[in-house]
Amino acid sequence: MYGSAKVPEDSKRTAFRKAEKKYKLYYDDTSKSSKKRRQPKQVDLSEVLDFKSILESHRQNSDLPPGVVALHSDSDRPLFYLESRPGFYFVPEALSIEEQCQLIRESLTTFPQPPNRTNHNAFYGPLHDLFVAAKEKKVLVEEASVLTSSESECNPSTSNGDVHKWKFCEEHEVSSRGNTCKSISSSALLRKLRWSTLGLQFDWSKRNYNVSLPHNKIPDDLCQLAKRMAAPAMPKGEEFHPEAAIVNYFGMADTLGGHLDDMEADWSKPIVSMSLGCKAIFLLGGKSREDPPLAMFLRSGDIVLMAGEARECFHGVPRIFTDKEHAEIVPIESQFSVEDDICFLEYIRTSRININIRQVF
Ligand code: OGA
Ligand code: MN
Repeated sequence: MYGSAKVPEDSKRTAFRKAEKKYKLYYDDTSKSSKKRRQPKQVDLSEVLDFKSILESHRQNSDLPPGVVALHSDSDRPLFYLESRPGFYFVPEALSIEEQCQLIRESLTTFPQPPNRTNHNAFYGPLHDLFVAAKEKKVLVEEASVLTSSESECNPSTSNGDVHKWKFCEEHEVSSRGNTCKSISSSALLRKLRWSTLGLQFDWSKRNYNVSLPHNKIPDDLCQLAKRMAAPAMPKGEEFHPEAAIVNYFGMADTLGGHLDDMEADWSKPIVSMSLGCKAIFLLGGKSREDPPLAMFLRSGDIVLMAGEARECFHGVPRIFTDKEHAEIVPIESQFSVEDDICFLEYIRTSRININIRQVF
């Protein structure tokens, strides 16, 4: 078989990679031949920790699964930790439905606004109002022009000095120009939005914070929320200072591979990680990729804290569930109105958003 040399045998894969493979989305080949929509393959979810049911049984004073401990913080929400992963905390249902909807709105409208950068910057330069453009079915069109040097700093340029500027246009404007310029629909761009960065800007190519890039502070309401949520995982007497956040956007087949977040100076401070939209599987490994990871569900409104030793643990998201039965987003769906919020509704029905907030220094 071609390419077989590149595919490692199962025995050569790390334990983390094996778990990623176990949970990732596969389609049933059997339904391909019939013209039905392809169905996701069933996976065995029996070993996935489910903090929703752990919370329910805890509320009924039932036993917790082995290795899971409940803590009672100042708020009325219990948080759980794992004996095997010191510094990792799980707060199920930490965000109210209203907070979730507000964060979903902001993640799609204000958070990706320049000077915040997104994955689209490298190719298109800064894009304003992508969500509005998608709502209005606009098209992003390339216009080659020669710019001044200060303008070209924020625009990707070609070797001949032409700068490719992209502009949102009405659909009819594009068709009247003919096929001479490159274009892409703004709804396709919204679907391809993978990340945006708030506060100090993270440079993905160098995997560090580029403090010289222009940036705004983390919005105040998000900052207050993160401070409140971080409190139980903070070293005694210290306050969390949110300085940067990465917003991850996941479509149906998107995953986040196993990684460490190691570019912050002080690992005693937690990363505050919020889940919105469709349910996901989160893998929490150990300090080596060879350590078998624990799998757990992350639902809309759950918050995870990773501090101390847990900052050294590999983690990732191999799967999101976008089907009605498993996505578990009915409460947030019913909060968005069909008349005014149809675009948010359509987006979140098949997507997950993760906001993770960090103190960098
Ligand atoms: C990250 C991360 C986890 C998630 O962005 O570094 O680990 O739940 N995200 O999406
Ligand atoms: Mn991470």
